[in-house]
Amino acid sequence: MRVLKIAVLASGRGSNLKALLNASDTGRLSAEIVLVGSNKADAGALEIARKRGIPTCHLSSQQFKSSEEMDQALLETLREHQAEVVALAGYLKKIGSAIIREYKNKILNIHPALLPAFGGKGMYGAKVHQAVLDYGCKVTGVTVHLVDEEYDSGPPILQRCVPVQQDDTVETLAARVLQQEHVIYAEALQLFAECRVEVHGRQVLIKQ
Ligand code: GRF
Repeated sequence: MRVLKIAVLASGRGSNLKALLNASDTGRLSAEIVLVGSNKADAGALEIARKRGIPTCHLSSQQFKSSEEMDQALLETLREHQAEVVALAGYLKKIGSAIIREYKNKILNIHPALLPAFGGKGMYGAKVHQAVLDYGCKVTGVTVHLVDEEYDSGPPILQRCVPVQQDDTVETLAARVLQQEHVIYAEALQLFAECRVEVHGRQVLIKQ
């Protein structure tokens, strides 16, 4: 079985990174995480990676004159570690066009709602679940999608529903959605490991 080389970019605690490492340890994901990058020096994800001896990089906008320069540095780091696929897991910086061009249809993001609802700039973390509850939705979920130049706007690869319960709070809902995130991200990446993903415009086809 082919081993897919994945770079994970994360700005926060890194529970999705942990789930991907676990999926790879237990054989559900045929992948090696070759790099973990963050724009936040204190991201939990970097700590998780260091403990496992996974190469890390911290690139933040303060270190560069422009976002193009930062993108270039990130692109070179991805190349250096021979990443084939980039998995965004709570990475709060926009990915620049140079990286999107080079990794066309190879950059994934996970979003804690059913896109195109409750996505876009500024819609992350608790804000997403609060908006779902405020709207009175009966169902929310998780979307793993390809990344394009806008926030949360690339075509979905996999989506999964999570029912909203009448007594849900942001915390209880976020926790149930997160459980699904931890399952579905590895599944989506495994499709790439098995070369089963074909992209036709906005249609992402899964080959049997
Ligand atoms: C997850 O909810 C993910 O869907 C979103 O950011 C969060 C990251 O959580 N994009 P973690 O750092 O993986 O725990």
